[in-house]
Amino acid sequence: MTEIAVRVGVAEDYDAISAVFGTAMMFEPSADDELGKRLFEPERALVATDGEHIVGTTKALTRDLSVPGAVVPAAHVTGVGVRATHRRRGVMSALIGRQLREIPEAIAVLWASEPGIYGRFGYGAAAWGTSYEVDLHRVGPPVVRTRPGELSELTVDEACKELPTLLRQLQERRPGVSGRSELEWQKHLEDKKDDRGGRTARQILVHRDETGAIDGYALWRGKMNWEPTGPAYDVRVEELVAPEPTAYKALWSYLLTLDLAATLGYGYAAVDEPVQQLVTTPTALNRRVSESLWLRVTDVARALEQRRYAAAVDLVIEVTDELIPANAGRYRLTADGTTAVCTPTDDPADLTIPVRELGAAYLGGRRLAEFAATGRVVEHTAGALDTATTAFSWPVQPASIEVF
Ligand SMILES: CC(C)(COP(=O)(O)OP(=O)(O)OC[C@H]1O[C@@H](n2cnc3c(N)ncnc32)[C@H](O)[C@@H]1OP(=O)(O)O)[C@@H](O)C(=O)NCCC(=O)NCCS
Repeated sequence: MTEIAVRVGVAEDYDAISAVFGTAMMFEPSADDELGKRLFEPERALVATDGEHIVGTTKALTRDLSVPGAVVPAAHVTGVGVRATHRRRGVMSALIGRQLREIPEAIAVLWASEPGIYGRFGYGAAAWGTSYEVDLHRVGPPVVRTRPGELSELTVDEACKELPTLLRQLQERRPGVSGRSELEWQKHLEDKKDDRGGRTARQILVHRDETGAIDGYALWRGKMNWEPTGPAYDVRVEELVAPEPTAYKALWSYLLTLDLAATLGYGYAAVDEPVQQLVTTPTALNRRVSESLWLRVTDVARALEQRRYAAAVDLVIEVTDELIPANAGRYRLTADGTTAVCTPTDDPADLTIPVRELGAAYLGGRRLAEFAATGRVVEHTAGALDTATTAFSWPVQPASIEVF
């Protein structure tokens, strides 16, 4: 093996990057991925090369993310893969280390294939995701009678125009939700037959309020299945966004009561997903919780200033960060609920927070007190931990509703 070098990507790398990532993740990259190519940002990709060959990759997408009280730029890291022939020789570490030091946004986010990978780079699991495998015969669904025309379906072109407003409304309410550009919406709603896994085409179901305006939508597919005992169809919900309660209830009622269906899967429920309140038997949702969005603070002062806090706070926080030394140090955070100021200081620390735990707590879903219990967060001034825990928390749990 020659020496591994790391360089910034160029447009011509697209196919080689897809091939390396596809091999690492064991899937066949699509031969006709026009939208993926148009979304590729070569200058935000890093590749590791062994001689002529690309053997490792990482990419970042320029997108925004809802955080407590704001929607802010966040590097969306994706496509991390190393050829199995070159594993465990530090290729990923070289790629991720350089990427994090060069990211211009104050935070980076990703979905991890395995939870053991990214903590070492200062990423913290900032949002728990809940998957449902619903037993429709047991769950006791809400039964909502809708007016004629209240529920209907859209084409992809109509959806690309109508749905972005609803996603933005969700971002205003719930942290952890990624924004989508027009092109990202087209990619998100692309529905190639080869990618359906034997299921129906994607159904784009919308709910309309009394004026006819769309106030909620669900993306879902079905699959026919007959058992000796009768029909046991399967419903897969890919996304459901309905900030208004009437729309939310009507959409879930429709999906949980479809004829012939016995099971329903949904992979992106929030920990506090309201549908749990609407069914008679929440245990029949068969909930499984796992890490969803990982967050890395790449610029402490900017990151802490750009979110809002649930309570007033005036504390000196010492941040430790081995990978980005410029981040390490003491910061005074002063916030009153509507504004936040964070500046470096020489004053003694009230609290020490490693950058990984700062990332985990950043979206308001993980409590700093949780990390003090294992000694990862350390309190130096009595009361500082409780004040910071309350201030960093948020009324609505974060949830990431798509794997990017
Ligand atoms: C995960 C992957 C990118 C790691 O690449 P790599 O070049 O082998 O990683 P490195 O050699 O830089 O490893 C750095 C450290 O991470 C650890 N590590 C690597 N992969 C890990 C995993 N899957 N789980 C836990 N730890 C892991 C290594 O053991 C090493 O630890 P050490 O420094 O204590 O020895 C690579 O194995 C891969 O492509 N896997 C399949 C695709 C995938 O899962 N990609 C991630 C998508 S989110």
